[in-house]
Amino acid sequence: MSRKILITGGAGFIGSHVVRLFVNKYPEYTIGNLDALTYAGNPENLKDVEARPNYKFIKGDITDESFINQLFQSEGFDAVIHLAAESHVDRSIMDPLAFVKTNVLGTAILLNAARNNWKEKEGKLFYHVSTDEVYGSLGETGFFTEETPYDPRSPYSASKASSDHFVMAYHHTYGLPVVMSNCSNNYGSHHFPEKLIPLMINNIRNNKPLPVYGKGENVRDWLWVNDHAAAIDVIFHKGRTGEKYNVGGFNEWKNIDLVHLLCRIMDKKLGRADGESAKLITYVKDRQGHDLRYAIDATKLNKELGWKPSLQFEEGLEKTVDWYLENQEWIDHVLSGSYQQYYQQQYANR
Ligand code: NAD
Ligand code: TYD
Repeated sequence: MSRKILITGGAGFIGSHVVRLFVNKYPEYTIGNLDALTYAGNPENLKDVEARPNYKFIKGDITDESFINQLFQSEGFDAVIHLAAESHVDRSIMDPLAFVKTNVLGTAILLNAARNNWKEKEGKLFYHVSTDEVYGSLGETGFFTEETPYDPRSPYSASKASSDHFVMAYHHTYGLPVVMSNCSNNYGSHHFPEKLIPLMINNIRNNKPLPVYGKGENVRDWLWVNDHAAAIDVIFHKGRTGEKYNVGGFNEWKNIDLVHLLCRIMDKKLGRADGESAKLITYVKDRQGHDLRYAIDATKLNKELGWKPSLQFEEGLEKTVDWYLENQEWIDHVLSGSYQQYYQQQYANR
């Protein structure tokens, strides 16, 4: 069956993996990748699919209401996979309103365009990609399930929680066909080096201090980004409308243990003496309102749709480290912002 899918945020970390998966796996689908190319968006991430006949890049901002409405009218999408967002907690602490604008208003504008344009609801789907951070923070034990009440604690998670509520409100009020997933922390290639894992890899390589917040005892559940993309694929095709699914790695790590593991892997890869990179670990001031622990119970997704993570964490981390070591140019580009000027220019001239 042919489908016309709008993927938002496809030039970012997770979005680029989702776009690549859909473009390659479903040549009968047409994929429009809408992205504003903020600091986190990089079309270079999708160089390998750029020329494919079923792929089109659309530069644009989800908070631009008239542009989004026109786009829905002109392109006639029958599905949306919505990933575009401001995604970094530390940035949300510094500039919360940017998160309200993109994550709350931007999502509402997309939902509204879908509502206005999808007169016939049969065969339509609005898939909202969200985070486990909406559930708040766990103590030493327990897991987030789909029934866990929302309790967001950072401006980032509050903005995502709000967008989740809008998605469900559009389903209940207008009958918009929606599905949603809430995923734990992702890792893998093309991850902007401001988040824990790529930042540590880059700093280890460059012999720079490894800033561990507080005592390093906060716990995150890590999932390989390709496994998240596979979950999105299965939920998009088989998930029940109006439902939400938790996605997680069953893979909890204290930050400090994870940083030590990365140091050991990198010592080997870089031919350093065992323990050399760990000397770079530097404890720094804790993040304000730092959530202690996230842990996902992904049983529903496993039981209903048969999804489970495909990769052991150590293997995934090695692959990730290898990718960063082989793609220093990518890191230099994204950190300097130079690629952005280049692409902004390219698209401005079209
Ligand atoms: P990212 O920051 O790497 O990418 C976000 C993308 O959205 C970028 O390409 C950016 O240019 C684009 N974008 C930002 N503002 C936009 C706007 N106004 N209009 C159009 N495009 C815009 O983020 P990510 O880590 O890939 O996360 C993608 C989605 O997955 C987000 O919704 C995030 O909340 C969710 N999520 C992320 C994680 C994670 O671990 N990274 C975990 C669970 C859920
Ligand atoms: P991050 O990758 O920002 O993801 P999130 O905050 O969405 O979970 O951070 C993961 C964990 O690592 C979190 O507990 C904060 C911590 N952290 C550090 O200790 N040092 C750092 O430099 C960064 C970026 C994060």
